[in-house]
Amino acid sequence: MNTKVIERSLENTQPDQHQEFEREIEKVTFDLKAYLSEKRVQVEAALEESITVVYPEKIYEAMRYSLLAGGKRLRPILCLASCELSGGTVEMALPTACALEMIHTMSLIHDDLPAMDNDDYRRGRLTNHKVYGEDIAILAGDGLLAYAFEFIAEKTKEVPAEQVLRVVAKLGRAVAATGLVGGQVLDLEHEGQQNVDVETLKFIHIHKTGALLEASVVCGALLAGANQELLQRLRSYAHNIGLAFQIIDDVLDITATTEELGKTAGKDLQAQKVTYPSLWGIEESRHQAQKLVDLAKAELADFGNRALPLIAIADYITARTN
Ligand code: IPE
Ligand code: IPE
Ligand code: MG
Ligand code: MG
Ligand code: MG
Repeated sequence: MNTKVIERSLENTQPDQHQEFEREIEKVTFDLKAYLSEKRVQVEAALEESITVVYPEKIYEAMRYSLLAGGKRLRPILCLASCELSGGTVEMALPTACALEMIHTMSLIHDDLPAMDNDDYRRGRLTNHKVYGEDIAILAGDGLLAYAFEFIAEKTKEVPAEQVLRVVAKLGRAVAATGLVGGQVLDLEHEGQQNVDVETLKFIHIHKTGALLEASVVCGALLAGANQELLQRLRSYAHNIGLAFQIIDDVLDITATTEELGKTAGKDLQAQKVTYPSLWGIEESRHQAQKLVDLAKAELADFGNRALPLIAIADYITARTN
């Protein structure tokens, strides 16, 4: 029974029946806020421990500065949720979850550099290069990217070696020229260009942002040894939320404030980026993102309560305010 049906039924029931319906509601509603904060605590603790400051201190401090600056931790949480849905444990996925956040943080540090988007603020603080200089910011990104792979190889426990190997290969592909790096190149190349078609824009978004989000979900499932059918469902779920995520990022760049975002608002217009809102307007962009989220949720409809976290996260992609 879905929540709306239960709420309607409640209006016509006696007090004792009420209690029964309330128990039913507990079963079907999923407390995403509580779920996200519980997982965030686990991820933050693991990230905090992941990097110790040793000689030469400056580079470790720069890596920690951006890695531990907050952020939604969406990629690690997707990885944990997907691993659990596939029958694995948080412990199996935590090193990969941290590695995903290291790689994502690298991409943010580099994305903010003057040679790329030239941003002064990120996650509510000055960008890495503003604090440590461009030279160290580039190296902090390199350091995080390389360490991510070492971290998976060294820290993953209770997972057969060939499954870990598949995770490493998947992640490499997602961040390489075949994925995030390729997408970023096209994003920069198309700055200021008129008449970019929607297929090209979709390609950019799927690569610069979608690839790592898809890898987050797929790697969680690979660690748990998911079968081909489940992997395919999760891949398709992730593909759809990945594109929706960047569409909403583009919308929020226009509609949200710098304070809400923790990064400079209005940058895309200023840099003449091609975005979904620049092609379709805000309302239609939101509509398209919602359609993708609905498709993503439909992929998981057969998995019952096990899929509730990933289904709720899909809704969060369009509902978020930062
Ligand atoms: C920002 O990612 C960069 C994009 C890929 C759009 P997030 O919105 O996930 O940033 P954090 O991790 O919460 O800071
Ligand atoms: C960034 O896209 C994608 C990556 C960091 C790979 P954006 O350039 O739109 O991200 P923000 O808005 O700076 O976070
Ligand atoms: Mg960018
Ligand atoms: Mg940017
Ligand atoms: Mg953006």
